[in-house]
Amino acid sequence: MKGIILAGGSGTRLRPLTTITSKQLLPIYNKPMILYPLQTLLTAGIREVLIIVAPNNAGDFLKLLGSGKEYGCKFTYEIQDKPGGLAEAFIIGESFLRHDDVSLILGDNIYEDDFSEAIQSFQGGGRVFAKQVPDPERFGVVEFDEQRRAVSIVEKPAEPKSDYAVTGLYIYDKTVVEKTKNLAPSERGELEITDLNNVYLKEGSLDVAFVKGHWFDTGTFESMYEAITFVRGRELANQ
Ligand code: TTP
Repeated sequence: MKGIILAGGSGTRLRPLTTITSKQLLPIYNKPMILYPLQTLLTAGIREVLIIVAPNNAGDFLKLLGSGKEYGCKFTYEIQDKPGGLAEAFIIGESFLRHDDVSLILGDNIYEDDFSEAIQSFQGGGRVFAKQVPDPERFGVVEFDEQRRAVSIVEKPAEPKSDYAVTGLYIYDKTVVEKTKNLAPSERGELEITDLNNVYLKEGSLDVAFVKGHWFDTGTFESMYEAITFVRGRELANQ
């Protein structure tokens, strides 16, 4: 299992902070944001990680993270020239992946969970992790049938059919690159991960698991503040 951290994007909702640096380099209490999703991959036993960044500030990521030796793993870096969507990670990462399974994590997502079991037990298809949220219209939302089976995932629905958001960790088998190449860009010109998840869902190979602990998508000032408060509480408790 290889890992990808997607840390490009434009971070417009965090301006003016993101006018001078990348969102994923901003502090969450005592560490730059990207170290949290990195830790999630490391805890799950992943030792080969591709870090995808935007052209601006790419050198700062290298300065922060280096070769990976410090973390007992190997980092590879790629530039995403412009934000072409989350699923574009698999096209950018094609030569890195070489037909291996992959866990993709967003560089601004912070999880309390340990995903070792979910990642090590993965046998093919796709696996996503949903979480109940008060504002599902901001996310990809899972629609369930009466037997609680996922029937579709809808990107930022105006009228969500459930309050289960698909969070920013995704596991896929080696077919992900071909599947992504067959996606058409959405109206906003992006390769949507929700479209990719629906391809897996339609072929009956998408497993919708659930996030048990806390989860933060730190893309807004409010959610970032909540994440900082949570991490601070945990750090102080561990002292
Ligand atoms: P978003 O928060 O959806 O987008 P953004 O970071 O550009 O922020 P904003 O909406 O405020 O302008 O992205 C989620 C994560 O995915 C974040 O870590 C950035 C990353 N990302 C990329 O690396 N490339 C992309 O093409 C997109 C859309 C996001």
